[in-house]
Amino acid sequence: MRILVLHGPNLNLLGKREPEIYGHQTLADIDAGLRAAAKQLAVEIECFQSNHEGELIDRIQAAMGQAAGILINPGGFTHTSVALRDALVASRLPIVEVHLSNVFARETFRQHSYVSPIAVGVISGLGAQGYRFGLEALVSQVTSQGG
Ligand code: DQA
Repeated sequence: MRILVLHGPNLNLLGKREPEIYGHQTLADIDAGLRAAAKQLAVEIECFQSNHEGELIDRIQAAMGQAAGILINPGGFTHTSVALRDALVASRLPIVEVHLSNVFARETFRQHSYVSPIAVGVISGLGAQGYRFGLEALVSQVTSQGG
């Protein structure tokens, strides 16, 4: 089973970017933790970060028929991108949405997500460990659906 992990804009700055909100772990730390978790779950993961909406969409389209599910932190595109949501829907893959911060405890504009209504589930506010929970949930979802 292969899972695509997508990180949206500005997440390449983790560790330096508002650490009081997003924590001290870098994106490389998060990906390393996910790789270790994937090994334990006996699944393959592919991690990709981009600051560009179109690159994320291209990666989602390339995952069609290749991946069993998508774990995504869409970053700021969460709140703005119909195109990203459309690509996720078109993929027909189960989606788990992750946010490091609790978006519901922040500015009003962060409280709307274009992705949440089409996701299997959302994890928000649990920091870097939220990615691991999300991966476990996605794998269990795919497994229970016979994927
Ligand atoms: C974020 C929350 C978003 O509102 C923000 O734009 C991000 C990070 C999070 O992980 O908490 O870039 O997705």
